[in-house]
Amino acid sequence: MKKINIGLLGWGTVGTGVVKILQSNSALIARRLGASLFIKRIADLDLERDRGIKVDRKILTRDARDVINDPGIDIVVELIGGYEPAKTYVLESLEAGKRVVTANKALLARDGDTIFEAAQRAGLEIGFEASVGGGIPIIRSLSEGFVGNRIQSILGIINGTANYILSRMSEEGEEFVTILKGAQKKGYVEADPTIDVEGIDTAHKLAILIRLAFGTKIKLKAIYTEGITRITPLDLAFANEFGYRVKLLAIAKRDKAGIEARVHPTMLPQNSLLAGVRDVFNAIYVTGDAMGPMMLYGQGAGMMPTASAVVGDVVEIARSLLGGGAGSKPTYLASKGLKVKDMEELVGQYYLRFWVVDRPGVLAQISAILGKHQISIASVIQKGRRVGKAVPIVIMTHEAREGEIRRALEKIDRLQVVRDKTVFVRIENRLN
Ligand code: HSE
Repeated sequence: MKKINIGLLGWGTVGTGVVKILQSNSALIARRLGASLFIKRIADLDLERDRGIKVDRKILTRDARDVINDPGIDIVVELIGGYEPAKTYVLESLEAGKRVVTANKALLARDGDTIFEAAQRAGLEIGFEASVGGGIPIIRSLSEGFVGNRIQSILGIINGTANYILSRMSEEGEEFVTILKGAQKKGYVEADPTIDVEGIDTAHKLAILIRLAFGTKIKLKAIYTEGITRITPLDLAFANEFGYRVKLLAIAKRDKAGIEARVHPTMLPQNSLLAGVRDVFNAIYVTGDAMGPMMLYGQGAGMMPTASAVVGDVVEIARSLLGGGAGSKPTYLASKGLKVKDMEELVGQYYLRFWVVDRPGVLAQISAILGKHQISIASVIQKGRRVGKAVPIVIMTHEAREGEIRRALEKIDRLQVVRDKTVFVRIENRLN
């Protein structure tokens, strides 16, 4: 039986998962592939940590070049993450004639052009299924299954950590910090947790999806990005009362005027499929002109689901290698860039939570400012009665322009009766 040799760069959580799958499912994969997959070398700076698996110590090295320059290695799997040295290693691997599999969303989001151009130049495959949605085959779906569609919109819950935190806060009322620690123990969280909770990881993944769905380049700074750190259990409880769930949503929409590209906490109707996506699960709701709406759902973070996507890429590339690597390789090159719409132009409904002094006339002051900005009120709730002290008041608006909402809140937050910065959450009632 033929043997395909793999070299691993980075032996962390996902790398360990890849080794586990290739050990425990080797016969199964060999039968399906018609060749065996063999890990020839593993490079990592830390070779001492106990990963709970057995490997031949002779294959271990601290020098990535031992992998990249090994003529016997067919596929390099980059699981280091971050920009450097991962970028250099990926480019060097391609120059050395290796096929590459990577889970590196930050790198592909920022330097996708350089990486995909290098792969194209070399005529070599690059697999990056694990970069978005953990074990969910969204990259393959967009580039193969949905390829005949003009994609109209993508709504994604694509950060496991943020979804885990919001679910726990809403369902158990647990504290943010306790939940984050739990997620860290489970291996979901980035080395720097702000990347997850501030929406940066979601924006990286959205940039990759936009490239595939709309064929356009997008700069990370063109994606409006807002995290979940200002959302409190109180807001989640109010959301429930109004029939909504709050999710950190990645949103990309396209029409003749350009594209919307944004990441922010979003209220979704409780009975929508996306609202039911809990814990570390991810889901991507894609609407295409031919297929209509389609949702992919699965575990978006963690050792084994992410490793499953990596192994899927390795097998696909191995198949092409076994076939002589002749067929056409998918191209991920993108056009110059469609116009990204300004957030100020966005029209939608909003949840506004004020923290105000409990005194007659306060609501009148707030609604007067909203009225001046053409913002119409759909409903209002005040909870509790604490005369002269601060209480939360929630207003749900009818459709309004984001620019007007921002300007109205600037004025409202300067009122003497307002005791804290107003929290506002965008509502998404139309899912496609
Ligand atoms: N930190 C990421 C998440 C891991 O929580 O989704 C998967 O990309």
